[in-house]
Amino acid sequence: MIDEAEVLAFQMVVKNTRGHKGKAVFLARDKHHLADLSHLIRHEAPYLFQKYVKESHGRAVRVIVVGGRAVGTMLRCSTDGGMQSNCSLGGVRMMCSLSEQGKQLAIQVSNILGMDVCGIDLLMKDNGSFCV
Ligand SMILES: Nc1ncnc2c1ncn2[C@@H]1O[C@H](COP(=O)(O)OP(=O)(O)O)[C@@H](O)[C@H]1O
Ligand SMILES: [Mg+2]
Repeated sequence: MIDEAEVLAFQMVVKNTRGHKGKAVFLARDKHHLADLSHLIRHEAPYLFQKYVKESHGRAVRVIVVGGRAVGTMLRCSTDGGMQSNCSLGGVRMMCSLSEQGKQLAIQVSNILGMDVCGIDLLMKDNGSFCV
């Protein structure tokens, strides 16, 4: 796991694909921290390594897509300084606006996944673009 991850720079995000409510999402500071985390992560389900989108730490836009239309957007923010913006971890949510570019990205992802109803989380980058 640690060898595979090394193509990404630290800090990096590690998550279990069967996780939910932000509980299986970790920010690994360095190789030693990743080694410690590897004992906590469930290995019976696949896990993901991701680039850490630092600019979006503790903030994400949830886009609700229904029938290929973005019908609602809300900003979710952590309240404890943590990376995860999930409400179940104490995050707050508020209505927000979203650029046409952000909406189109969420719709595109929804179409690729073949979803009728879904919520797509977007992370915000400093240049105004988004990560799914
Ligand atoms: N690569 C990342 N960089 C920065 N923040 C992230 C990253 N991945 C997830 N997050 C934050 O953690 C939250 C939970 O991650 P997510 O993958 O949605 O897991 P879950 O399915 O458990 O909600 C996201 O809503 C976001 O706030
Ligand atoms: Mg999520």
